[in-house]
Parts: sequence; C-alpha cells; structure tokens
Amino acid sequence: MIDPRSLDDYRAHGGYKGLERALSLGPDAILDEVTTSGLRGRGGAGFPTGIKWKTVAQAKADRKFIVCNADEGDSGTFADRMIMEGDPFLVIEGMTTAGITVGATKGYIYIRSEYPHAVEAMNAAIKAARRGGYLGDRIGGSTHSFDMDVRVGAGAYVCGEETSLLESLEGRRGLVRAKPPLPAHHGLFGKPTVINNVLSFAAIPFILAEGAKAYADFGMGRSRGTMPIQLAGNIRHGGLFETAFGVTLGELVDDIGGGTFTGRPVRAVQVGGPLGAYFPRALFDTPFDYEAFAARDGLIGHGGIVVFDDSVDMRKQARFAMEFCAIESCGKCTPCRIGSTRGVETIEKIIRGERVSENLALVEDLCNTMKFGSLCALGGFTPYPVLSALKHFREDFVPAPTTLQAAE
Ligand SMILES: Cc1cc2nc3c(=O)[nH]c(=O)nc-3n(C[C@H](O)[C@H](O)[C@H](O)COP(=O)(O)O)c2cc1C
Ligand code: SF4
Repeated sequence: MIDPRSLDDYRAHGGYKGLERALSLGPDAILDEVTTSGLRGRGGAGFPTGIKWKTVAQAKADRKFIVCNADEGDSGTFADRMIMEGDPFLVIEGMTTAGITVGATKGYIYIRSEYPHAVEAMNAAIKAARRGGYLGDRIGGSTHSFDMDVRVGAGAYVCGEETSLLESLEGRRGLVRAKPPLPAHHGLFGKPTVINNVLSFAAIPFILAEGAKAYADFGMGRSRGTMPIQLAGNIRHGGLFETAFGVTLGELVDDIGGGTFTGRPVRAVQVGGPLGAYFPRALFDTPFDYEAFAARDGLIGHGGIVVFDDSVDMRKQARFAMEFCAIESCGKCTPCRIGSTRGVETIEKIIRGERVSENLALVEDLCNTMKFGSLCALGGFTPYPVLSALKHFREDFVPAPTTLQAAE
C-alpha cells in the first residue's frame, strides 16, 4: 500500500504515530509498553524485547548503539526483505524508538549482500527520514538525537548470529564471541547495544501507536502478537502470511498453503530454517507458538516453513544439515567445527548401508555432543534437523528387512 520511497505516504498511512506517542511518553513508559506487549525477538531465539531494552537502558556508558539484524540467512525466509523493500520507514521508526528508549544516538542496519533492493530502499528511506527531521538532531522537534546507516554483509550464515554480526560490523571476520558479556552490556565497539531482528523493530510502531494491549490481544500463551510466516519449498501457494500465533502447522500448510506444488502428499516440513526440526504430518496439530514447538523438540525460529512431498529422502536431508553446519561453521569451537564434518561422513556411511545401527548410534551420540558442547546455536541446533529426521522418518535410515530376512 505504501510508496516505500515517500515519507509523506508513510505518514499518510499512520507512520510515525508510534514515535510521536513514544516521545510524549518518555523512556520508562515506552519500556513498560514494550514489555507489556509481550513482544519476543523474531530473529529466532524469542527473547523478550522489553527485558533486552531495559538492560541496555540501565547500562551506564558514554555511547550506546542500536543494531538491526537484517542478515536473514534462514532457508525459506524473506519477511525481513519484504519489509525493508516495501515499508522501510517502519524499521527506521522502530530503531529510532529503541534509540530514544535506551539512550543510543547511533544505529546500524546490517543487511545481507544478497538483498541489493533492500539496501537501496533502506538507504533511500534513511535519506528521506533525515530530510524530514526524523533522523539526526532533535528528532520530531524533541531533545533526542538518533541517526543510522546501512552496512552490507558478505554472505556468511553465521554473521546472523548477533556476536558474530558485531565482529563483522567492527570490520573483522565473523567469529562468534563467547557470552557473557552480553551485547546489552558489551556490544558494538564494547558499548551497550540493542540488537534486534527487522521484524522485532517493525512491530514497535504498532505497539506504541495502538498500545501494548492491542498487540498482546493477538496470540496464545507466551507468544503474543502476530508473526509473518513464510511458506516456501514444495508448496502450492507460497508466500508471506501474517497471522496471530496459535494457528496450527496443518492449517498453515494445507489450508493457507494449499498442500504441495507437485500435488503429491506432504511428507515433511522443516520449520525455523536450516537449524529447525523436520515435522511429519502426525505433528500437524502443533500450534504456531514458541513453547508448543519446543515441547516437540522443534523451534519456530524466524517463521520459515519449507515443505517437502513424499519423494524426499530424509537421509539426504540429515546429511545436508551436517554439511550446512560444516560449511557455515565459524570454526571457533570443536563440537561444531569437527563434529559437523564427522556427522557428514557418518551419515554417508549409513546411506551406503555400512554398519547402519552402529553408525546411527554414533550420529545420535555426536548430536548430543554438538547440542551441549557448542558455543552458539549453529553447532548447538544442527542436531534438531538430524535427530528429528531420525525420530520421525526412521524408515528412511533403517532399510526394511528383505523377504528372506523376514522369513528367517
Ligand atoms: C547461526 C545463527 C544465525 C542467526 N541468524 C540470524 C539472522 O539472520 N537474523 C536474525 O535476526 N537473527 C539471527 N540469529 C539470532 C541472533 O543471534 C539474535 O538472537 C537476534 O538477532 C536477536 O534479535 P531478536 O531478539 O529481535 O530476535 C542467528 C543466530 C544464530 C546462532
Ligand atoms: S557452534 Fe560453530 S558457529 Fe558457533 S561458535 Fe562454535 S564453531 Fe562457531
């Protein structure tokens, strides 16, 4: 609906109402609103945004930063891109509100290099916001200053991990930092930093303009508000569907997505990107909710769903998960750096039919080491797709006995 290059058009559609209310409320009341809304980070971990902002607000420092994570590396996801290309002022307004709340005067949006149109749209909107007095000194006539710039990544999945992203922003190789210290205390250039996903910042203007309750009225349990869910892979109606938490996986894939594009039966869906679990049809009653997915050893991550029909070979998918981790590993810790390569080798042995049950036990053991011994979620969550494939699609890994064996 909105002309993404026009500040006037954004304002005509209610843009900057949230910031105007935020300026009248002041930092403490903004923190209350964000906390009461129940907003949780949309980048994957689902951490409460209000708590993150409060930690940075309370930190004492001469400078603080706001960083927007627009690396969007998960397979099948494109919600960040759609927002940046279609409604870039929304992200700017969210980041500016964060800056005013925590006392940060500078922000960066880190966009993956594969998104040239988003980079262009964000740069154009930043210029227009500056011209309109919404970035720079005395924002909207207030005493607050905030400005921001775009930084372009260089194509590493691990640079979406927040500490690795900060390393990259500082001009170094994207190596994961150990936590603590948290970025909220010791972030960009060692200063307290709010780092949030594009969708998290994009939710802020609505929360401030309409009030926390209006946002929290959507959703279920501890998953409040709406989520732009991205349907991809072998699906008839792929695309972005913003809906309240609570809709089931089956409703999303069958009713909204219309089943597979090939017309064959849906066999597996991977939810939450390359580190997400594979769910079979038997789990299609799972509601889209952080806790419900965790209870079934899955995650909703950034809201990406990739659909596979019955021609999928889950051994290959499990191998792919380990291979992806081996390629994208930053190399800092052993379970991920070495474990993923050993994982590829062991799954290949299973595919070749070599000592299948022994090697399956070895893969499960290796997954436990990666899960509990990795420094970040790249190595720590790679076991999710592997173990879910083993658990729900066991028949692909253990060949059915031949007629002769069965007779014996
Ligand atoms: C390997 C890896 C890749 C990640 N990639 C992204 C990403 O592309 N975008 C994102 O917002 N968060 C990503 N995250 C999560 C971030 O580390 C961090 O939790 C997030 O930026 C915090 O923002 P939020 O609280 O708004 O979700 C990734 C995490 C890991 C471990
Ligand atoms: S788990 Fe992998 S990506 Fe994360 S710190 Fe260890 S080696 Fe790096």
